Amino acid sequence: MNKKVSVSAPGKLMLLGEHAVVYNRLCLVTAVDKRLYTTVEIIDKSEFQLEAKDVGISEYKKPMSRLGKGSIFKAAQFVEIAIANSVSHPPEFISGSTQILKQVQNDSLGIRVTTKSEFSAKLGFGSSSAVTACIIKAISQLFHLKLSKKEIFDLAYKTVLDIQGDGSGFDVASAVYGGTIYFVTGGKVIEYLNAASLPLVVGYSGIKADTVRIINKVKKDFANRQSCLDEIYNSIEILVNQGKEALIKMDWQSFGKLMNKNQEYLKGLGVSIEKLDNMIKAALDAGAYGAKLSGAGGGDCMIALVSNENKEEVKEAIQNVGREVFDIKTNAEGIRIE
Ligand code: PMV
Repeated sequence: MNKKVSVSAPGKLMLLGEHAVVYNRLCLVTAVDKRLYTTVEIIDKSEFQLEAKDVGISEYKKPMSRLGKGSIFKAAQFVEIAIANSVSHPPEFISGSTQILKQVQNDSLGIRVTTKSEFSAKLGFGSSSAVTACIIKAISQLFHLKLSKKEIFDLAYKTVLDIQGDGSGFDVASAVYGGTIYFVTGGKVIEYLNAASLPLVVGYSGIKADTVRIINKVKKDFANRQSCLDEIYNSIEILVNQGKEALIKMDWQSFGKLMNKNQEYLKGLGVSIEKLDNMIKAALDAGAYGAKLSGAGGGDCMIALVSNENKEEVKEAIQNVGREVFDIKTNAEGIRIE
């Protein structure tokens, strides 16, 4: 019996469509070449153990019978609930429990998880969804459950909703499927795009965004203006569809313009902040095709689409007003066994 497996998943960047995608609309998301690694091991003690030094967790332990119950250390939530959802209370599609899964359910075996990431959880690259996807893929492998990508997505998305309450699942889909995908809320559509890697530069604002807080802020700010909100989301959806075409044609000029338009809508939603605005302006002044925040807003990162000729200039301009600048490659591979 294989008692140990290592799985990795990519980080993600939202290209177009954030916020609107929470409400039954489309987005474009790409997986980046910075990965999160997990090792999941079956142990002879009925205990859940977690070692995740990148997020300050060392020697976290709990009896398997308490999995997902009682107080859960915040940084351990996604790993713990992912295991509880796939092992302790498996959904219908994994009810064909294997012998070894039954032993874990009967409290005679336990699970030890170790995680390590190439990107900081502060950036907003989707470390929570990446770790959730990795854990479910690892459990599927260890217990011979043969879960499909869609089943892994569904279970990982359920886990994220159990914890956060809100969210489209775009980040989970990006971790599971990789590449650049065209995505509709909850995985109603998950379509790989035959797209080249985008020449992107990423600037980190130095401020950690709280996605759920920002989603709720938009709801509250527009509580009496639902039709105005719908209009913004519909306009965003139109430009996501135009972006899909531009991406496939590698028409960076058009894609850049759509990023700028999307940023205007995000400002209309009130989710951009001065720091991100300054970084975006700096990138555009230095000749980027387009620039926008990526994700919920309120902090985290902005992205700029560049040409080979102006890449260094754009990077320097962002660096001057931001915190950190990264070169990344898009279209990275989704979850994989290492
Ligand atoms: O903050 P991030 O990187 O998790 O992105 C959030 C994007 C939203 O559309 C606001 C939420 C979602 O789940 O789609």
